[in-house]
Amino acid sequence: MEEMLGGTRINYLGHATFRVVTAGGGQILIDPFLTDNPQTPEDMKEVGDIDTILITHGHFDHFADAIPLAQQTGATVVANFEIFSYLQSKGVENAMPIQKGGTAQVGGIKVTATHAFHSSSIAEEDGTIVYAGEPMGFILEFESGFKLYHAGDTAVFGDMQLIGEIYQPDLALLPIGNQVVMSPFEAAHAARLLGVRHVVPMHYGTFPFIPGTPEEFQKHLGEIAPDVTVHVMQPGDDLDSQAG
Ligand code: NI
Ligand code: MN
Repeated sequence: MEEMLGGTRINYLGHATFRVVTAGGGQILIDPFLTDNPQTPEDMKEVGDIDTILITHGHFDHFADAIPLAQQTGATVVANFEIFSYLQSKGVENAMPIQKGGTAQVGGIKVTATHAFHSSSIAEEDGTIVYAGEPMGFILEFESGFKLYHAGDTAVFGDMQLIGEIYQPDLALLPIGNQVVMSPFEAAHAARLLGVRHVVPMHYGTFPFIPGTPEEFQKHLGEIAPDVTVHVMQPGDDLDSQAG
């Protein structure tokens, strides 16, 4: 595991929120949902210094803390064009657009946006729904060559095989919650299509409508992609503190 990570630290903050510290000291936050995230440990809701924020889509459970954190830290926020424009309209100065198939150089690493099968919108405080472009996943390529895939919220789709072929991620963070994302069954097929050796389940148990469990995921992987190793992270965990 340590050899694969090549000095990258992956810290789980609950739901779909991860903090990634690069070997070069880059501080990257993916899908900032902290203040109202029931899974985030109390003492980790303040993230301190962050230089890059990646947003997969506009739903609150991936976006809620983006604007306050951007304003507090000055971090570069990378998101699709519609969210980029929304952030600019809210006074966020360091927003950067990215679209599927494109790569941005941020936090000292390369971030490529991929497809995701879901929806994307932002709910304003008065209840107005703002169109927030297409949902995405991200491939992060680190200094050492280690590649991480954060799938965002998604269904399984056949082009996960293409993502596997052309980016060859070492590790995939996959939603397993069911009902509004893949269930453990589809997520096991996602792992198979991606050809990854290591997976971390995410986006489950936070709310009653995402009841998928790591145990079910493990069971389906045993039948569908038996060579894949599952790393179940508890909120607050670092990946390298996991067995396997
Ligand atoms: Ni969503
Ligand atoms: Mn979600």
